[in-house]
Amino acid sequence: MARVALLVEHSGNRRLLHDYLGPHYTVMAEEELCLEAEPPELVVADPRALHRWEPALRQARAIWSPLLIPVLLMVSGDGVRQASERLGDTAEDVVRRPLSKAELWARIQNLLRLRAFSADLNGRLTDTAAYSQVLERRVAERTEQLQYTLSETVQRLTRASEFRDTDTGRHIARVCHHTRQLADALGCDGQLCRELFEVAALHDVGKIAVPDHVLRKPGPLDAEEWALMKRHTVDGEWMLQGSDSPYLQRGAEVARSHHERYDGTGYPDGLAGDAIPLSARLVQLADVYDALRTERPYKPAFSHEQARRIILEGDGRTAPEHFDPEILRAFERNAAAFDRIQETLKD
Ligand SMILES: [Fe+2]
Repeated sequence: MARVALLVEHSGNRRLLHDYLGPHYTVMAEEELCLEAEPPELVVADPRALHRWEPALRQARAIWSPLLIPVLLMVSGDGVRQASERLGDTAEDVVRRPLSKAELWARIQNLLRLRAFSADLNGRLTDTAAYSQVLERRVAERTEQLQYTLSETVQRLTRASEFRDTDTGRHIARVCHHTRQLADALGCDGQLCRELFEVAALHDVGKIAVPDHVLRKPGPLDAEEWALMKRHTVDGEWMLQGSDSPYLQRGAEVARSHHERYDGTGYPDGLAGDAIPLSARLVQLADVYDALRTERPYKPAFSHEQARRIILEGDGRTAPEHFDPEILRAFERNAAAFDRIQETLKD
């Protein structure tokens, strides 16, 4: 049976209502009310008693929603118009006194139906909120899986390029670590640092397309061979471009622009300054540092101090103007970390 609270000032009226409603509902007296913990399903009140209970009722209705504790106000004579104007505030319906049992019965039934509908809707809304949380969690898991698959694909593509590259084993890994070190020193956020770490591995992916007689030639390259070698930038971009993934788009810009120089003397486009994507500016310095530390047919492996000085001061082939000044300062501040990476990942 529905719980109906009687807030009625006059004891005679209260007794009459109790007798009338008692057989059909669980009638609650004022002293039994605990509005916040176990509110009634309907309140039948006269204006004076309602006035006393108004603060507590407002609080309970704010917690449970007004339609879950509907109030039927009993008023006499002129009070109907005045009370009607306040409907929805502290009461949902008004019934005129002296009471007609049929009218009282109809209004109570209507309010209880309204309450049941509201409770059902509330339940559905709660279910919907819980379901949308489940969906959000699933989307997050799926996104993580996709990111993992993409990272793994990039790593396998990197392995393919390593297969053809003449650079010794861990060059790509070191460039990735140096790039992340620089990005971190520049204050890039964690997500961007991780992304740059991974896409840096693609900087020389275009070398897959460089012919063997050029890629593996021990001596210096002639002009035609050098032109073919330089193509690894645009070929790398071609392999990665056109993807909807921002991750691969960044990989494509790294592949194309990692031999650009800040002063505009690089290739393939001769871009200068901030026209060179940040990702490529970072990989450029990382790549040069590792090249200086690595032995080549035409040069020895330089020590960390030598490589650091060449980058910061130049040596005729490499010049500080080639690098983004801000990235150069980040390198200078963190130079010791580059040496540590080099030592940890040496061939
Ligand atoms: Fe390259």
